[in-house]
Formats: sequence, structure tokens, C-alpha cells
Amino acid sequence: MRATDIIAHKRDALQLSTAEINWFIEQLTAGTLPDYQASALMMAIYIQGMSRRETVDLTLAMANSGDQLDLHDAVDYAVDKHSSGGVGDKTSLVVLPIVAACGVPVAKMSGRGLGFSGGTLDKMEAIPGWQAHVPIESFKQQVREIGLVLAGQTAELAPADGKLYALRDVTATVSSIPLIAASIMSKKLAAGSDGIVLDVKVGRGAFMKTVESGRLLAETMVNIGQDAGRDVVALLSEMNQPLGYAVGNANETREAILTLHGSADTPPDFWEHCLEVGGHMLILAGGADSLDTAKEKMTAARDSGRALSKFRQMVEAQGGSGRFVDRPDLLEQPPFVADITINRGGWVEEIDAAAIGMASVLLGAGREKKGDSIDYRVGINLMIKVGDTVKANQVVGQVLAATEATLQAGNAAVLQALTVSDQPVKPLPHFYGTVT
Ligand code: URA
Repeated sequence: MRATDIIAHKRDALQLSTAEINWFIEQLTAGTLPDYQASALMMAIYIQGMSRRETVDLTLAMANSGDQLDLHDAVDYAVDKHSSGGVGDKTSLVVLPIVAACGVPVAKMSGRGLGFSGGTLDKMEAIPGWQAHVPIESFKQQVREIGLVLAGQTAELAPADGKLYALRDVTATVSSIPLIAASIMSKKLAAGSDGIVLDVKVGRGAFMKTVESGRLLAETMVNIGQDAGRDVVALLSEMNQPLGYAVGNANETREAILTLHGSADTPPDFWEHCLEVGGHMLILAGGADSLDTAKEKMTAARDSGRALSKFRQMVEAQGGSGRFVDRPDLLEQPPFVADITINRGGWVEEIDAAAIGMASVLLGAGREKKGDSIDYRVGINLMIKVGDTVKANQVVGQVLAATEATLQAGNAAVLQALTVSDQPVKPLPHFYGTVT
């Protein structure tokens, strides 16, 4: 086979055969395909798209390009979740222990934040001593013994995706639905879970800016999962404004742990989100036969303290101290804190999630580029939601900063992200639909 023929086929809107796709991914993984040919094919796919069969072939070829975990020697059925990335999204920290406390094993590999999007590993690492690195045998042992493991990518999963993503990033070919779907699903399939709940965010603070594009991505990923023999459901969830109140790392971890404690300060939108995502995980694994039953079971697991103790078990198994689970107020605090004061009264019209995410990067809580270091202590707590009424000079949150200068800049950036209207504003929905 010749790479130029494959590129020409896609350029001319022909369907690529399974053999062509497999050959291309094999050459890419072996390092024998030059970057310019891989990039040219990415651009041809970006422009011409891919059929369902081609997208599934591409995903499977990418999933086959490295290690593939089989968790069945550890558990009969494992569930996983994936969020397409957002601002204030600490859902995994709450949902995974609750689902595990309901008797469904959870084995999850998570990632780090980049740009305005936060990452689960960064939030967990705000707990001193907690280790994201769990070797594969320990990963399986922990899911078998505790029913919950949350780690960074340990095996070499879908290395072809790493290569392709690096090229897509610099050739303006990231935002293609078949390429995003294959990228996400290749890693999920290789990670070995039987059931996968995809939380596809839509809105200003998400990859997918509109409900229509989010639905298309969700449908493509659900189709891939089904064709690959996995149980998959996708939720389309709101990401025009941040999820919950806290945006950062230690403050998000604190908010998540307090949610597991059943604190009265739990942000209602966040709890509702957790119930919905976790509810679908329970249903996929056969742990509940309806969303209502699943939500009741999850609430009971939180109220009884079982979910909190499952979280503590996982933290301790991975080197962290349970002290921070019992007393999240002990997590490191920032040196500078200032109130966020809104200057006019009315109805909150907009809380631009991307701008709030960028304000938290400016404070030091996120990365401009891969490999940047982050400050776990800093971030933003914003206790208002679109549709709320506010009074002039009302304190609506706090900026948490490492220096006086970033405190001022962070405060100004947060205020810029807020719009208040003289007219009543409808609250935003939490979800825009489910794709099964
Ligand atoms: N996340 C991924 O893993 N891949 C993409 O292409 C986009 C988002």
C-alpha cells in the first residue's frame, strides 16, 4: 500500500477500506509514516468526513495500536465515565466512590487539565501524598479489593492517538467529529471497561459550542462503542457556566469531599449532575433498573457515609492521608483571598465558563501548555448561577491567589466574565438530552 493513494482516496471523497485504515495506523505507530503524510490525511478527513464504518475502523485500529487492558480477571463488569472537559467539573471525585459504594466496580484512568479545562488528576493531587501512578497489576488488584481505582494512564494506551493528536493540534484539524470521537473512544476501549458513560459538555466552556454539534459527537461515540461491543450512553450537559461553585484544584477537591459528606453547602447543580452521571453508570452495570432507583441508591450511599469511606479507602490505597477526607478544610489554602463583589443589581445573565476557566489559569490553577506546573491552592469560588437575582455590592464569591498582583488581575477577569441584566433571566437547563 502507498500512503499517497490513501490520502488521494480520502481527498476525492472515497471511503477508505478497513485494510487501508489499519495499514495507515500501523505505519504511523511504527514511526515509518512521515508527519506530512499523516497530517495530509487528517486534513482530508477533516474536510471529507468519515462514514460510521470508517470511524469505527479508525477507532479500533487506534485502540489496537498499544496495550489493551482486560479487567475481567479482576472484576466481571467494570464501568467508566468520560467527560469531554469543562470548567468546575469535579464530578469524578464524587460519582466514582458513590457508584463503587453501590457495589459496582469502577476502574478509571483520568487526565490532566489543559487551557481553561480542568483535569481530575490535578484535583486529586491537591490531596498531599495521593499518587496518580498505579502500575497495571496494582490497578487491577485495587479494583478487585476496593472496587475503586482512579489513576493516570498507566499502560501505553492508544499510542497512535498521542501521535495523531500532536499533529492535529498544529495543523488545525482538532475539531473534526470523527477524529475527536476516534481519539476519545480509542483510549476508552483500550482501558477495558464494559460500560462507559460519556458526559459530553456543550456551551462556551466546552469543546462543542452548540447542542447540535455535541449531539453529533455523542451519537458518533455511542455508535463506536456499540459496534465495539461495549455498553455506552452519552449525556449532553450544560457548560456555558461553570459546574458547581469551585473552579481550581484544592477548592474543587474540597467541594467534592464536602458533597460526599452531604454538606448543606453542596451546589445543587453539581449534585444533580453527579446523580445523573452516576445513575447511568449504575444502570449500565445492572445496579439499578431505572434512573429514579439509581438516584435513590446513590443518595443512600452518600447519606450512610459509605461513599465517603470508599473515597477514603481509595485515597489511602494510593498514598494519601484520610485526614484530608475527614477534614477537607485542612487542604492547603492560598495566601491571598479577596471577595468578588458585583457592582450592580439585577438578574445574572451570563457567567462565561471559558472566561472563568481562563481566569483560573491566570491565577495559576491551570496550564497554558502541556507540562506547565500548577498551584493547587488558587482558583475561584463563585456562588451564583445564571437566573439568580443579585443586589448591587453583593459578595458573590472569592478569588484565591498566590500573589497580590494575580489577586487583582483574577478579580478583574472574573468580573469581566459576569453579565447582569435588568430583566429576569431563565436559569440554564442542566442537561440537553441523552443519547443511547
Ligand atoms: N479529547 C481527546 O482525547 N481527543 C480529542 O480529539 C479531543 C478531546
